[in-house]
Amino acid sequence: MRTLSDAFGRRINYLRISVTDRCNLRCAYCMPAEGVQWQPREELLSLGEIVQVVRAAAQLGVSRIRLTGGEPLVRPDVARLIAAISHIDGIQDIGLTTNGLLLEKLAPALADAGLSRVNISLDTLDQKAFRRLTRLGEFGQVWRGIAAAERAGLAPIKLNTVVIRGINDAELLDLARLSLDHPWHIRFIELMPIGNTGDWGAGFLSARDRYVSVQEMRQTLAPLDLLPAEAPAGNGPARTFRIPGAAGAVGFISPLGEHFCETCNRLRLTADGRLRPCLIQTGEVPVREALRGGQDVTTLIEQAAARKPEGHRLWQRDIAISHNRMMCQIGG
Ligand code: GTP
Ligand code: 5AD
Ligand code: SF4
Repeated sequence: MRTLSDAFGRRINYLRISVTDRCNLRCAYCMPAEGVQWQPREELLSLGEIVQVVRAAAQLGVSRIRLTGGEPLVRPDVARLIAAISHIDGIQDIGLTTNGLLLEKLAPALADAGLSRVNISLDTLDQKAFRRLTRLGEFGQVWRGIAAAERAGLAPIKLNTVVIRGINDAELLDLARLSLDHPWHIRFIELMPIGNTGDWGAGFLSARDRYVSVQEMRQTLAPLDLLPAEAPAGNGPARTFRIPGAAGAVGFISPLGEHFCETCNRLRLTADGRLRPCLIQTGEVPVREALRGGQDVTTLIEQAAARKPEGHRLWQRDIAISHNRMMCQIGG
């Protein structure tokens, strides 16, 4: 079996695939209120084209796949895509990152198709704050989606909370306490200055003020006496803790305060067919034209791995960086 490594000796075994840039929400950290111009459908990779990339990646030793968006569940053929990927030799784990709105309806079909587990965004437990942040969403629908995912066995369920001052920073204890009775992993994420980095409009603090560091999150959570814990099945950068006696866990994802680039194991494929060596740095390797020209993409995948930077260096900058894509066009 061939393996894929980068110039810094990091082994690449994880591919995050954005299957669409479209979304049924408009989260303030992800896109502007008016949304973004969706990419024309003919520019998006087809199911067959995505499968070809995964097949080539699997032959290079990639064993873990995560589907992202936009919102991956708005893509009509997502269950068929999961089924096709699950039959590829070498693929051991298929995860999906979702806003949860469509899980109530789709969780059983996704599990049947071969999806291993889901990570669901849950930034707040407050219905009004949820609507303000997502601009369109209904909290109850996501809550029912989490229950449906649990019933379908899509475990472990991980909840992603991007911490934003003025929106949910007063809820961290309540969110973490969800892990007491539920076997869920509540992950607190530092807000990254990517995509929609400017003014978010009425009801939000300025870019400089809305960021909360992971150190501050830990101070807020000190009353819970979090203990370091073993990481759950996963491939990502979360650091895991547990409230003594809790059924689930609490994690922190800190791209700025305690960055994790030295352990980066991933490439990204954008919905419009570009391999992205780093979430934050802008370089990309196009694969769509090669796929449509009937060429093998193996060497393009190797090129993308070779172009991975040592780290994003975001921590050296002040706040916003220039960026060529919104978060919904990369998938986080
Ligand atoms: P598993 O550990 O496999 O469950 O997945 P994950 O935590 O990597 O995936 P998820 O899509 O839930 O991502 C959680 C958060 O981590 C999101 O805010 C992502 O943007 C962030 N994240 C994931 N990978 C990277 C990365 O390589 N760099 C940075 N800076 N952030 C990342
Ligand atoms: N900073 C941190 N996390 C983000 N996400 C989206 N935008 C940002 C950002 N600017 C998270 C979402 C989702 C995952 C794919 O990325 O909450 O859980
Ligand atoms: Fe949609 Fe996810 Fe972006 Fe929210 S963060 S607008 S749910 S893609």
